[in-house]
Amino acid sequence: MTNPFPSRFLWGAATAAYQVEGSPLADGAGPSIWHRFSHTPGRVANGDTGDVACDHYHRFREDVALMRELGLGAYRFSIAWGRVLPEGTGRVNERGLDFYRRLVDALREAGIAPVATLYHWDLPAALDDRGGWLNRDAADWFAEYAAVCYRALDDRIELWATLNEPWVVTDGGYLTGVLAPGHRSAFEAARAGHNLLRAHAAAVEAYRAEGRGRIGVVVNIEPKHPASDRPEDRAAAARADAYLNRHYLDPLLLGRYPEELAGIYGEAWSEVFDREAAAVRVPIDWLGLNYYTRNVVRHQPDVWPLAAARVRQSRSIHTETDWEVYPAGLEEALRWIAGRYGSVPLYVTENGAAFYDPPSPIDGRIDDPLRIAYLRDHLRAVGRALAAGVDVRGYFVWSLLDNLEWSHGFSKRFGIVHVDFATLARTIKASGHFYAGFKTNHEGPAYASNA
Ligand code: FCB
Repeated sequence: MTNPFPSRFLWGAATAAYQVEGSPLADGAGPSIWHRFSHTPGRVANGDTGDVACDHYHRFREDVALMRELGLGAYRFSIAWGRVLPEGTGRVNERGLDFYRRLVDALREAGIAPVATLYHWDLPAALDDRGGWLNRDAADWFAEYAAVCYRALDDRIELWATLNEPWVVTDGGYLTGVLAPGHRSAFEAARAGHNLLRAHAAAVEAYRAEGRGRIGVVVNIEPKHPASDRPEDRAAAARADAYLNRHYLDPLLLGRYPEELAGIYGEAWSEVFDREAAAVRVPIDWLGLNYYTRNVVRHQPDVWPLAAARVRQSRSIHTETDWEVYPAGLEEALRWIAGRYGSVPLYVTENGAAFYDPPSPIDGRIDDPLRIAYLRDHLRAVGRALAAGVDVRGYFVWSLLDNLEWSHGFSKRFGIVHVDFATLARTIKASGHFYAGFKTNHEGPAYASNA
């Protein structure tokens, strides 16, 4: 197979503020919902918090040097809203912005393109006190914050993303409650989702007024496959697909919600959402896709609210987060998006796996063959999508560093760089070396074998 990756393809790695930065209250920052959540007993495994995390806040220069060693062309990070606007709106905290100014300067000096996400789940706690994403004003709050970031950083940012994974924000944060702010209400989930979309649209519109680069949004996609040909399993898979995959993409790119949502949410769904869906469809320059796994789904009436359950594939390999390893799903997702939504340029903004790694290096090395296989097979899937004509412009490994995996705490390691959480020492894993090689040599043995 000839090399399907274009020469301008962006090869990157990704992180998010609360997961790596540490020092969440430093230099005048206001606390976020994740700070509160992790400091509430029982919410995060082992009582872990982001108080120190990877200490990226102080060690970012060392981390940029690691990115150089890995030959990365791009780094996707997120901006902590509460560092920039401690109360969420109003007063700008220049010292918080300075951190991101220093980070993007260091990246540019190293020849690495900064890709900034405005919202990766860490809403300022002061805004949560005003209802957070349940408040319709959240769209204006977000646009105000976004505009401050554009003014401070736009000349150095390659790509902006408004939101990271709005589905996870609402499902985890407002429906199941496993993520901050930890609520459990279908009424809240539906409303928060709609306000997230309105906020995205407001932030894109603010960008058009003054931005110079390119702006998009990041969604997570999981192909939903029916467990059998029975009509009820097929219907269950279609509901699950509407709930996760089309819930956000349809309004963003087609200006309407999937019909199934009204049935799934029942009385929690409001006609107002349908009426306003057309307004959240504003032109975007790119779309980010986070892909980890697929789901095989069967009808199960007692599962709220979807009446659908996952069927674990016992013959497949699963990661430490119990996600089935299914590389073909990435090709499927890319082709599905291109087919359903048309020609928007795509980036794989997250892809990676938690596998068991030794807590500290052995003879200075971390061998992680399962992660190498995962990355290799998913990169091949991207290659097949490219060869089929899908406009994929870049790929970002999740994650650059082992980090705080939300409610799993530090127990799930996703990094291509190992972090010793006692000493904070970094060690590039074998998968990091593999990725560095793949980028420069994708026609070589790593790509061609077993293709
Ligand atoms: C995604 C999140 C990211 C990380 C990975 C494993 O849903 O965007 O922050 O937690 O999962």
